[in-house]
Amino acid sequence: MVQINENLSIREINLIEKDKVRKISELHREAFPDFFLTKLGKPFLSTLYRGYLEDSQSGIIVAEKGNKIVGIIAYSKDYPNFYKGLIKHHLLKFAFYSAGAVIRHPSFIRRLLGAFKKSDSVVKPKRYVELASICVNPCLESRGVGTQMIDYLKSVVDFNEYAFINLETDADGNDSVNRFYIKNGFELIRQYTTAEGRRMNEYRYYQK
Ligand SMILES: CC(C)(COP(=O)(O)OP(=O)(O)OC[C@H]1O[C@@H](n2cnc3c(N)ncnc32)[C@H](O)[C@@H]1OP(=O)(O)O)[C@@H](O)C(=O)NCCC(=O)NCCS
Repeated sequence: MVQINENLSIREINLIEKDKVRKISELHREAFPDFFLTKLGKPFLSTLYRGYLEDSQSGIIVAEKGNKIVGIIAYSKDYPNFYKGLIKHHLLKFAFYSAGAVIRHPSFIRRLLGAFKKSDSVVKPKRYVELASICVNPCLESRGVGTQMIDYLKSVVDFNEYAFINLETDADGNDSVNRFYIKNGFELIRQYTTAEGRRMNEYRYYQK
């Protein structure tokens, strides 16, 4: 655990604390109000985040102020197999939880299938760590919480074993987030457009 100041600490949580996924899902919904995963509902999000705790190669880093979770990073050291595990263990739950949203927005089916086909598209020639999700309580943005969580992730990654930390984010209408990654030492590696026409930036952090 890293104590940042009297009130803020950063640490990794484990499966014993799986009840925390409910709070983590609430934080995700506050930080990403209009995003696709948020629209799929809290039970869907909780199952997804629980997946990071259940998978031995993945995890969740939290920033806490007292007992309150104010920031999270979800990561995976084996992202292709993380998705395979999710499908294997939780496919029915995901189908059930997303049914309502899919009825309201039929176009979601394509995005959902796309998300679960990630296991093939995220295979890379070298072993790497995927920073799959990061968010900070909107009331505490721009106070260094996100940077401290990224520093923590960098400190726990064994760069002899993993070549880089990888992440993807929207290229358009997302300048502050793109700046945040560049400020934290990430390099833009490539841009691509998803099947739905979303332009994405892919970044990597290499230990210097
Ligand atoms: C992106 C995010 C994790 C950054 O965390 P943070 O604790 O606000 O970041 P820090 O305080 O460590 O760094 C702030 C810097 O990041 C950038 N930044 C990114 N998003 C920002 C935001 N919403 N508000 C202000 N600054 C933001 C700025 O360049 C800022 O630099 P400055 O303080 O010199 O102006 C956080 O803003 C967040 O949760 N945003 C919503 C969810 C999201 O978009 N996540 C990324 C998905 S790929």
